[in-house]
Amino acid sequence: MSNTLLKYVCISTTTGITLYITLLGLLTTASFQAHIIYLHKIQLTWSSDLNTPEIFGFPHNQVTPFCIPTSHGEALYAWHILPLNLYREHEASLLAEPPGFVPDITSRLAFKLLREDPEARLVLHFHGAAGTVGSGYRPPNYRALSAAQPRKIHVLTFDYGGFGRSAGTPSERGVILDARAVVDWAMNDAGIAPSRILVFGQSLGTAVGIAVSEHFALQSPPVVFAGMVLVAPFVDVVTLMATYRVAGTIPLVSPLARFPRLFMYLGTFVRDTWASKDRIARYVSANEDTGEKYRITLIHAEDDWDISWQHTPMLFWHAVNATVPAGMTYDELEEKKDERRKDLGSAGSVVEWRTENGVMREEILKYGLHDVIMSYPVISLAVMRIFTAVDTSFK
Ligand SMILES: *[C@@H]1O[C@H](CO)[C@@H](O)[C@H](O)[C@H]1NC(C)=O
Repeated sequence: MSNTLLKYVCISTTTGITLYITLLGLLTTASFQAHIIYLHKIQLTWSSDLNTPEIFGFPHNQVTPFCIPTSHGEALYAWHILPLNLYREHEASLLAEPPGFVPDITSRLAFKLLREDPEARLVLHFHGAAGTVGSGYRPPNYRALSAAQPRKIHVLTFDYGGFGRSAGTPSERGVILDARAVVDWAMNDAGIAPSRILVFGQSLGTAVGIAVSEHFALQSPPVVFAGMVLVAPFVDVVTLMATYRVAGTIPLVSPLARFPRLFMYLGTFVRDTWASKDRIARYVSANEDTGEKYRITLIHAEDDWDISWQHTPMLFWHAVNATVPAGMTYDELEEKKDERRKDLGSAGSVVEWRTENGVMREEILKYGLHDVIMSYPVISLAVMRIFTAVDTSFK
């Protein structure tokens, strides 16, 4: 190797290492972490007007864009999506209403169809990091959520503070308060009983869904929703750091996982830990104590390159462990799961764990990636399975 080349290699290696250390330094600051965890400035729908949902493939006035007030500051930008068959039945009247953002949703037919139908069900949608209510696989996701009962299942989705048109800066505390405001709106303004509400989350949204479900289950008296469907969840942020790849390819801090001491040290700087494993355990054990019925479905694809599917059996373990007074090790549970696992061939496999009060399902798909999975029929089925378990007359 020539001298100049060697020098060049040395300089670029040094520059690379310096940049990486700078990055790690930045990662210890709260605001940089917020940008990495929430990616809220990456809107993905920059050029599209969210007040024109037709851009995202919805028929005229199927979606009502509106705002949900919060007690802690800015209003949250939201979409109410009518189930398609209900839309079809009322198409003429809906088309006669003005399109675009609706300052007073209570004046609209879509809202009345939700509020005044005792049969209506509502899926509260908690989206993942980056983007807005309109980006990527979210619109097809909303369609999948109500596909199995397209007359009764409404969807409510919103942007957390700091995302899209919702002002603010996201933090764990702030995002959970946002989610609580949306639940309050659903129960009080839209008048939907908890047994007719289902919590759906994907990726970061799973952590939000678990946090908000835990919060309400711990109220006195407890408020427990029909159930949770969680797609591509993770156990907590520090564990995620060890496996996460930005856009499925760039390992940010995971190379450091080979140095456990350094990694643990870096972990102590994480401000928003999103400890879903602890929250799901508290949620389960609260319901086991109060005797409230609960249903959790975890879904993950083996080819998810953003969040490894291995997070799902870990989370499942924490949930099941909370039902066993003496506790259970991960391997003990895996052995028991082997006896119950239903092999679905190329679709993957399912394990169901039941207690007197709860049903916990783990669905590992062979295919579905991180986002595409949200538009799959397994999602429609998971929603329907929970609503029919709550009320067998629901068809
Ligand atoms: C499992 O449950 C037992 C008993 O409640 C508890 O002591 C233990 O910490 C739990 N394990 C985990 C990993 O949370």
